[in-house]
Amino acid sequence: MSLSVIILAAGRGTRMYSSKPKVLHLLAGQPLLAHVIKQIQPLQPSEIFCVVGYGHEEVMAQLGHYPVQWIHQAEQLGTGHAVMQVLPHLNPHHRVLVVYGDVPFITAETLQTLLTTLTTQALALLVASVDDPAGLGRVVRDAQGQMLRIVEERDATETEKQIREINTGVLAASAGVLQHWLPKVTTQNNQHEYYLPDVINLAIAAGDAVAACRALSQDEILGVNTRLQLTQLERLYQKKTADALLLQGVSLTDPARFDLRGVLHAGEDVLIESNVLLEGEVFMGAGTMVGPNTLIRNSRIGKNVVIKANCVIEDAEIADDCVIGPFARIRPKTKLKEGVHIGNFVEVKNTVMGPESKANHLAYLGDASIGQGVNVGAGTITCNYDGINKYQTIIEDGAFIGSNTSLVAPVHIGVNATIGAGSTITKAAPSESLTVARSRQTTVAGWRRPKKEEKI
Ligand code: UD1
Ligand code: CA
Repeated sequence: MSLSVIILAAGRGTRMYSSKPKVLHLLAGQPLLAHVIKQIQPLQPSEIFCVVGYGHEEVMAQLGHYPVQWIHQAEQLGTGHAVMQVLPHLNPHHRVLVVYGDVPFITAETLQTLLTTLTTQALALLVASVDDPAGLGRVVRDAQGQMLRIVEERDATETEKQIREINTGVLAASAGVLQHWLPKVTTQNNQHEYYLPDVINLAIAAGDAVAACRALSQDEILGVNTRLQLTQLERLYQKKTADALLLQGVSLTDPARFDLRGVLHAGEDVLIESNVLLEGEVFMGAGTMVGPNTLIRNSRIGKNVVIKANCVIEDAEIADDCVIGPFARIRPKTKLKEGVHIGNFVEVKNTVMGPESKANHLAYLGDASIGQGVNVGAGTITCNYDGINKYQTIIEDGAFIGSNTSLVAPVHIGVNATIGAGSTITKAAPSESLTVARSRQTTVAGWRRPKKEEKI
């Protein structure tokens, strides 16, 4: 039987104290809702419905490209009401799973277990036993342990409030069963809301078989209601990611001080020091090491690269055996070929640097094409911007750029050209020659500094 998944995501998330809808808050760099959509993918649902309400324009603007049908719940009248909005769109022959947009670790394995019980049961509910059930719906059972009903905390008696077995909110049913029971749900409760768990209560009361299943791990059922819980989930996620990387052979000096907000593809013997943050998709070849306090986003880094402390690298390609930093900034569209050295306080943007070229100290290289074996002296700047347009600097193989040179683009430096220190280069510098463009040094012999007149 085909599967439809309903993700409830219309709530505001009052306790986040945020203008942003809760499901857009980020976990490991991705909106909570994106995690849920990713987690259910292995089930290969034929349809995913996402019920949005508070801030729905914002949610759809950010996640509209996902293969999801967006259902608008204009007023949030409860979880049952949210699912009711989907009923007219549901294929009556499908099985249905209801999950929450703010419960990001739910696994396909656990959901599959719920679905499997549907062969004999009308409904299956995911329950859990927790230490602190405050605020959650409780599972009430009879003396024989048969599930009788779900009661919300605000409707519970003092005795029922002592129960530690809770409703996680996740449930599975055939579309037909939901279509049968949901319209019978009323708002006769403390919150005057349509409660989805009332579907369970109605079914049990009518003598239907309802299964209560448990999640494979406790983390799966954790939801985000506050920013405190969000950071707790973030730490859990990061710990799991770090543990997995360590087991795959990546060395992390301190797994508690490593953040991955995306994917790392790492070769053998990669070493990552403390306080490194990786974002997007990052590739690192074998033997590469990353020093402390470094941010790397969407970049390809080759083998045996040494990235020293305090670097920022974004959308760049760094080939084998390069040495970067400390304190280097490698900006988008930079390509550093084998054995390039970029030293401290060097910024490189939209620039290709050929093999073995070096810029070891204090430089800005923007919109440049630099050949092989070029030496860029300290204080060199490509003046690539006239306030309106950007221009190219071309430096051919073997050139030597003296310190404190301004290369006013567009400009061309020939093969093996040498530029004298302190030059402002505005015209092409020919190959195999020395070009100097600075005022000559003169000496006035015997010149004396003015003296202060003595006051009488
Ligand atoms: C719900 C359950 C409770 C369970 C708990 C688990 C009900 C009545 N209670 O409680 O038994 O223990 O989840 O966390 O279902 N939502 C909508 N539209 C609405 C209301 C909610 O889309 O009108 C969405 C929210 O965005 C959220 C999810 O449904 O993702 C759960 O809503 P929430 O208000 O957190 O449910 P609880 O009252 O906490
Ligand atoms: Ca909740």
